[in-house]
Amino acid sequence: MKVIAFLGSPRKDGNTELLLNEAIKGVKVSGSAVQIFNLNFMRISPCQDCGGCDETGKCIVEDEMSQIYNAIRTADRIILASPIFFFGLSAQAKIMIDRCQAFWCEKYLLKKPIPEGKFGRKGLLLLVGGMEKEAGIKCSETTARAFFRTISVPEHKTLSFLGIDAKGAILGHPTALKDAYEAGKELVNI
Ligand SMILES: Cc1cc2nc3c(=O)[nH]c(=O)nc-3n(C[C@H](O)[C@H](O)[C@H](O)COP(=O)(O)O)c2cc1C
Repeated sequence: MKVIAFLGSPRKDGNTELLLNEAIKGVKVSGSAVQIFNLNFMRISPCQDCGGCDETGKCIVEDEMSQIYNAIRTADRIILASPIFFFGLSAQAKIMIDRCQAFWCEKYLLKKPIPEGKFGRKGLLLLVGGMEKEAGIKCSETTARAFFRTISVPEHKTLSFLGIDAKGAILGHPTALKDAYEAGKELVNI
């Protein structure tokens, strides 16, 4: 089973990364490898709305997004992990998602959704926010759902934690790391 993960936090060893690492440990119990994309370090331009993908479903911008297009197309399981920034996903995550407009054209204009493999396609969304405001989860989750639908991932689980602000604060949460580990295990359970 092919599993890919997007890390949307710029903070090294931050709460999102700690959570994602636990989810990955859970995935690896099944023997599946995980390809991780640390979006903060990738050269990916924002979507230019140039229309270059309208008729082909292929983005014409040449940058490191090309690795991600291939990975998304062939993945069975997709993890998106992001901190909540200004009530939404981080810019790092959002830039990658906007570039998936090429998949939107392929799916909805050309009527060619990404075919699923024998394991189907499932997602996991991990969110961490420093404030106790549910709106941050709602907004991020809405964008993430649109992302998953566009890349033909019909179902996903969301794990979110609020009130986690300082670097590493997630380590003091009573269940978060275990929850992420279990969610990773469940993601690849067939
Ligand atoms: C630019 C920026 C914007 C933020 N906006 C929000 C927000 O709208 N809602 C919230 O709950 N937390 C917000 N936070 C707090 C982060 O979500 C929180 O510190 C989180 O734990 C960061 O995760 P990380 O350690 O993985 O980077 C913001 C932090 C930054 C740096």
